[in-house]
Amino acid sequence: METCVLWPARLFLSILCVHGIITIGLTGAQERSICNESLMLQNLPVCGKSFEEMMHKLDSKKWCNLTEFILYYSDFTQCTEHKALTARCFWPNPLAEGFITEIHRQFFSKCSTVKVHWEDPPDKILITLIFMPVLLTVGMIGLIVWCSKRSDILV
Ligand SMILES: *[C@@H]1O[C@H](CO)[C@@H](O)[C@H](O)[C@H]1NC(C)=O
Ligand SMILES: *[C@@H]1O[C@H](CO)[C@@H](O)[C@H](O)[C@H]1NC(C)=O
Repeated sequence: METCVLWPARLFLSILCVHGIITIGLTGAQERSICNESLMLQNLPVCGKSFEEMMHKLDSKKWCNLTEFILYYSDFTQCTEHKALTARCFWPNPLAEGFITEIHRQFFSKCSTVKVHWEDPPDKILITLIFMPVLLTVGMIGLIVWCSKRSDILV
């Protein structure tokens, strides 16, 4: 069927479109409920603290090996996202990034000379861990929207 060839392109366009709608929707919501920066800054250290605790359980020699702490880092990232969203802030945002940079400086400042292995396969794992849920969600929404518009070919 000819439509099958176009399917990936259409799905991609739907995703872009839905993503745009979500972004506009969030922007609208943001205007109605203003980001409480003090609340976010008050809550972010909770994430930093649990990340610190996990990292201190590791040998500090392993702090530059992403494979060793990727799961803690993923948790930490998700935690900061959660705290930002709870305070009705976008994530990432400059204040949260400043906080994350501080944490990086604390643990990874010595790695610059050792070179963190960000380019190794673990990097792919990190990207997958962070982006897969987002892509899956957006993809599913896109698929549903597109299918509901094109329900004629599915029947
Ligand atoms: C922001 O959060 C703080 C708690 O840290 C609270 O006291 C304050 O009322 C909040 N401000 C708004 C506008 O909701
Ligand atoms: C990083 O840690 C992993 C898992 O413990 C290990 O297999 C790998 O050899 C380490 N890489 C480096 C560069 O130390």
